[in-house]
Amino acid sequence: MKISRRSAIAQSAALMGAAHLMDPAFQLKAQQPAAPPAPPPDPRQEATRAQRMKWWRDARFGMFIHWGLYSVVGRHEWVMEDEAIPVKDYELLAKQFKPKPNAARDWAKLAKQAGQKYMVMTTKHHEGFCNFNTKLTDYCAPKQGPGRDLVAEFVEAAHAEGLTPGFYYSLMDWHHPDGALCATDEAARRRFVDYIHGHVRELMTNYGKIGVLWYDVSWPLNVQGWESEKMNKMVFDLQPEIIVNNRNALQGDFATPEQRITAEAGGRAWESCMTLNDSWGYQTTDDNWKSPKTVVRNLVTCARDGGNYLLNIGPRGDGSIPEPSVEVLQAVGKWLDGNAASIYKVEPCSVKRSANANFTRIGNTLYSQIHFWPGEEFAISGPRMKVLSAKMLRTGMPVKFIQDDLRVRFVGLPKTAPDSPVTTIVAECDGEPKQDTDNVRKTRERAAVA
Ligand code: GLC
Repeated sequence: MKISRRSAIAQSAALMGAAHLMDPAFQLKAQQPAAPPAPPPDPRQEATRAQRMKWWRDARFGMFIHWGLYSVVGRHEWVMEDEAIPVKDYELLAKQFKPKPNAARDWAKLAKQAGQKYMVMTTKHHEGFCNFNTKLTDYCAPKQGPGRDLVAEFVEAAHAEGLTPGFYYSLMDWHHPDGALCATDEAARRRFVDYIHGHVRELMTNYGKIGVLWYDVSWPLNVQGWESEKMNKMVFDLQPEIIVNNRNALQGDFATPEQRITAEAGGRAWESCMTLNDSWGYQTTDDNWKSPKTVVRNLVTCARDGGNYLLNIGPRGDGSIPEPSVEVLQAVGKWLDGNAASIYKVEPCSVKRSANANFTRIGNTLYSQIHFWPGEEFAISGPRMKVLSAKMLRTGMPVKFIQDDLRVRFVGLPKTAPDSPVTTIVAECDGEPKQDTDNVRKTRERAAVA
């Protein structure tokens, strides 16, 4: 749901006790029928989940791509609804959408350079325009301005770089005649659900093996209305090894925290999706770019807590990638070149407290990713393990350390950060790295009584 974009307004409304009225997520939910109890998980999907998800867990970092008619406008992917553009006017964009050939190859090259292992592209966003070839509507790329199947090009480009392709698909549809009527008219629902399931069937049939199906926004139907179980069953019949997210009103294989990093309870898989500025689709004047440091820190936090990071680009209508996105992703890729060991195959890490660093772990190995370089010494409070040896991850240079009951200090470090935007020290320990700062607060020596 598009919460974050307006969260500032919602927060001030909250002070007046009216946040729910301002919040578009509430407005959407408010119009939806009450959620029925969640259906029990499908035993076949449960049984194959661990094996189906292995590649994705190892992949850790993916590229999200929002691309459609809104990319021609350049005022955010919600422009059709946010500016209440009439369907007839909006449709004209379909003829103006003329991407350069094989734009997706540049995205795939950039993703590879950035250390991303999979790519998820919008096959149809809320606007209803299909980037793929479909028999079910003429409102699709091959029959409009592009004159070709953009999803096919995307899949080919991902494969060419050894990346796994995934499909984003919005259930909500602002263009289809039954896209809203389906909530109140059974004949319309039947037509619309057949249309949507038909698309999903085409996507799962015509492009070879697909890694991820990434549903979005289930407004205005519920799990029964969408026939979500039947939909997922079809998906798994056609693509037995695929993984699906949780946005078709079912739990799916993984959760999708949006614009925030929140681990799921009970070890359930999750992927934090995030924009590089404040928009998913191309937004000409949105200059609120995240820095490489912010992106690396987010990636580290996802890795620390056992999640994936799906980071978005919003190409222009011609398919070109805004330069700031290129710069940030290339910088992240350079960092990952020397720091990959601390990201991809890590296990959840319970060491968290530091104002200067974040942490990841594999077995008894602790990676301290220092984003605010403290100078000659870096200390971790309350270690519950003994450090046996330490070195710089990128250069392999040994690092001296001193440990006592309350802390371990890495000493003799250079005055300025040796790596950018984050420096990683790797420490081999005598057990799983753990931290107890409560113990430090309670048991440390206090000042002598005056
Ligand atoms: C939200 C937005 C949408 C975006 C998606 C990505 O659901 O409506 O524009 O595609 O989040 O997670």
